[in-house]
Amino acid sequence: MASPATVPPTGPSLARAASTTRALFLGGLLLGGKLEQKLLDRVVRKHGSLVSTRVPGFGRTVLVLDPQSVRDMVTCPPGSLISGRGNAVLGFLYGNTSMFLVDGPSHHRLRRLLVPPFRNRDTLASYARIIESVAEDLLDHLPVNKPFALLPELRHSMLEIILQVVFGLTDENRLAPFREAMTELLEISTSNSSGLRDMLRKNYGIRWPRLQRALEKSDGLIYDEIRRRRADPALAEGDDILSLLLRTTTEDGDLLTEKEVRDQLVTLLIAGHETTATTLAWAVELLLQNPQALERLRQSIRDNDDSYIDAVTSETLRLRPPIPVFSREVAEDFELQGYRIPRGTLLVAHIGYIHQRDDHFENPRAFEPERFLAKRPEINYYAPFGGGLHSCIGNHFAALEVRLFLKIMFGSGDFSRSRKAEREKRQTILNLPQKGVRVIYHGRSQARP
Ligand code: HEM
Repeated sequence: MASPATVPPTGPSLARAASTTRALFLGGLLLGGKLEQKLLDRVVRKHGSLVSTRVPGFGRTVLVLDPQSVRDMVTCPPGSLISGRGNAVLGFLYGNTSMFLVDGPSHHRLRRLLVPPFRNRDTLASYARIIESVAEDLLDHLPVNKPFALLPELRHSMLEIILQVVFGLTDENRLAPFREAMTELLEISTSNSSGLRDMLRKNYGIRWPRLQRALEKSDGLIYDEIRRRRADPALAEGDDILSLLLRTTTEDGDLLTEKEVRDQLVTLLIAGHETTATTLAWAVELLLQNPQALERLRQSIRDNDDSYIDAVTSETLRLRPPIPVFSREVAEDFELQGYRIPRGTLLVAHIGYIHQRDDHFENPRAFEPERFLAKRPEINYYAPFGGGLHSCIGNHFAALEVRLFLKIMFGSGDFSRSRKAEREKRQTILNLPQKGVRVIYHGRSQARP
């Protein structure tokens, strides 16, 4: 087949997949785990690696299962693909000015404001101190010598980090109401029923009192905090994200509106919370299932060498990406593998599937962090943070969180697993450990007989 570059824009349209394929694809997406991989293998064998279908609520959708098309999606010229209706699923929480949902100059402006603090050495060093103190606090409060689910504990820690790093909160009197209100927003964001509730609300006017209450409460707190901080003479010194958003002017010299600030804070909260907690939980699970890797990690902590820990993070994100798909909407007619993809089509790149392709990864189902020491795979084969204009802005920050937590948890703490390998469970689009990673904590290191 000719490459997309040589095919005129009037190339053939992608054939619509039969309903059995739609069932396999949707079944796969809903189920997650090994079964999903098997069903998608069948889809690829039967129809190839680009599958066009109609998904209820999303309309015409093309499932992208091959690396070259992922590369085409993330390297396409600005304007041809936009964020679109896939990202808009949680728009009722993010708000319509969220960087997740906007494109063009408004998006560019938000990224110019928000990317630097998450990449800059000095800000990351100050965030590292917060992360370390939250990780130490976690070890101080975990139950000792009895099984428990780690994921809920990590969620609590990740929320603490976001409240301090993103919202800049330090005073317990202010932290407490935020903690409660943001937990409610996060629960709504990860609930399987939220998509349906939102659709019923929008299309049939069916009330959703829980959402209304949660938004009223969280928005009240956020807007109050924005005004309080604007009036605070110490605003110029804070390196938390809220302070930066409030004091930084754009190229045109204007400040973000209060609504824009609110929408970015909620976006960062939702985008950065469950993703990181889940990655950490999976990393612990995979390490406890692989004693050799765990021993090598412990040794690298003793040697103060971060390369193996970072390889563990990368390998965890390859095998268990917390968000296994990312999507774009076609804004101008687009081509993939020589096929013309019409405007309005939703492209869904299934990176979780591509991460386990055996033509690129040797022994793809095995947890082998060493593979990331040798070389980093290209974006078309490995994209846990998506790619292109809407790629994750928190990738370095998330890697820092995972690195520091693993260092403290396995450098100072002693854990063992309390059950056999944990299965994957799909919740909304998240790839979660079914039982929340059940472990036993034996206390600070060497405490175990
Ligand atoms: C291991 C943890 C994380 C994973 C696996 C992850 C993954 C992703 C993915 C797949 C996307 C969509 C990218 C695309 O469409 O190309 C994304 C977007 C985003 N992530 Fe993350 N993320 C993580 C942590 C974080 C953190 C810690 C933050 C910030 C506190 C964050 C902020 C964002 C934002 C703001 C976007 C939207 C960017 C835009 O639309 O321009 N993420 N992330």
